[in-house]
Amino acid sequence: MRIAVPKETKIKENRVAITPDVVKDLVNKGFQVSIQSDAGSSSFYSDSQYTAVGATVINDLASLYKEADIVLRVNAPLPDEIALMKKNAVLISFMFAGTNPALVEACCKAEISAFSMDAVPRISRAQKMDALSSQANLAGYKSVLLAADTIGKILPMMTTAAGTIRPSKVVIFGAGVAGLQAIATAKRLGAVVEVSDIRPDTKEQVESLGGKFIEVPADDTIKVEGGYVKSVSEDFLRKQQETVAKHVKEADIVITTALIPGKKAPVLVSDEMVKSMRFGSVILDMAVEQGGNVVGSELNKTVQKHGVTIIGESNIPSLLPMNASDLYAKNIQTFLYHLASKDGFKWEMDEEITKSSLIVHQGKAVHPSVNKPIHA
Ligand code: NAI
Repeated sequence: MRIAVPKETKIKENRVAITPDVVKDLVNKGFQVSIQSDAGSSSFYSDSQYTAVGATVINDLASLYKEADIVLRVNAPLPDEIALMKKNAVLISFMFAGTNPALVEACCKAEISAFSMDAVPRISRAQKMDALSSQANLAGYKSVLLAADTIGKILPMMTTAAGTIRPSKVVIFGAGVAGLQAIATAKRLGAVVEVSDIRPDTKEQVESLGGKFIEVPADDTIKVEGGYVKSVSEDFLRKQQETVAKHVKEADIVITTALIPGKKAPVLVSDEMVKSMRFGSVILDMAVEQGGNVVGSELNKTVQKHGVTIIGESNIPSLLPMNASDLYAKNIQTFLYHLASKDGFKWEMDEEITKSSLIVHQGKAVHPSVNKPIHA
């Protein structure tokens, strides 16, 4: 099996799908690996580091794809690039297929198969393949640093001859993968951290990291399945907003990471709440790509509203390309070994990880998120 790894083409993307360490292992297992020249340079991996472990460096994209049985990428390629893949080749990348019909169509047209890294189920067996988690964890860390770097004050308490500086207050919405890492990071930097989540079992996790849980009266409309919130009533969201409003008003930094999978992000910070914050406060809306948790946040922009800076960066992992590429490459390597050997793919169509992540199989859309029956 010949693997091809092109250079990422999305604007401001610094990550690469595989690292020299992973190439070494793939080559040892009998795979052939080709990588486009400069593919790793934004993650600080040079072409010579890849060739030293057995990869072939190819400059021209068409030549790279011509013989490839497997294409590994971080972001899905555009349709023109997919058209370069040979029939029955296999693409593995983030796809977000449910909201990307043109991509699914291009895969069908090129008669390839495509697995989506974002559709790998969050089950313990698949933890090592879970790229959403590995990237969200890093993004949670970096979100605090971005906000801390934007605000005109420090986070810890500091006693000086000129007076005592009070610690900054950080309010975090959502204590999932990104939120928990944001809590830990803000605590390490010395901030006072308050957290709101609607899954009851997050309270203990928040408190174990030193955060203070903002209690909202329980509500039996919250449906949790497999650790994810499936639905919540408008009434509860209104009550939650009333309760958290006073915490937001007093916050120096607000970081929002609230998400209900497959749905538009819940709006948690209203324009009124932004207005109530102190001049110079900072909000970072991590859910901006899913519509945003904050009224006024804008995709990939930093804007000022009522004297508050609102950051809407959608690709925070790319700002930590060294770690993000290392972890993504390990995720994709484990995933690939689960699906294939050097001699070909196993195509175990009823196996849970395969079934959940296979979007297109040999030119046919097969995933429920693309509204087709499985194995159609
Ligand atoms: P996750 O599913 O692990 O966590 C989401 C959390 O939000 C859950 O704990 C859930 O209970 C909570 N939540 C749902 N509704 C809520 C509400 N009304 N109030 C408070 N909490 C609520 O998701 P993960 O992996 O932590 O990602 C969080 C968000 O960050 C997602 O929108 C994801 O797409 C985004 N993200 C953004 C990145 C960026 O670069 N901007 C990078 C990585 C993730």
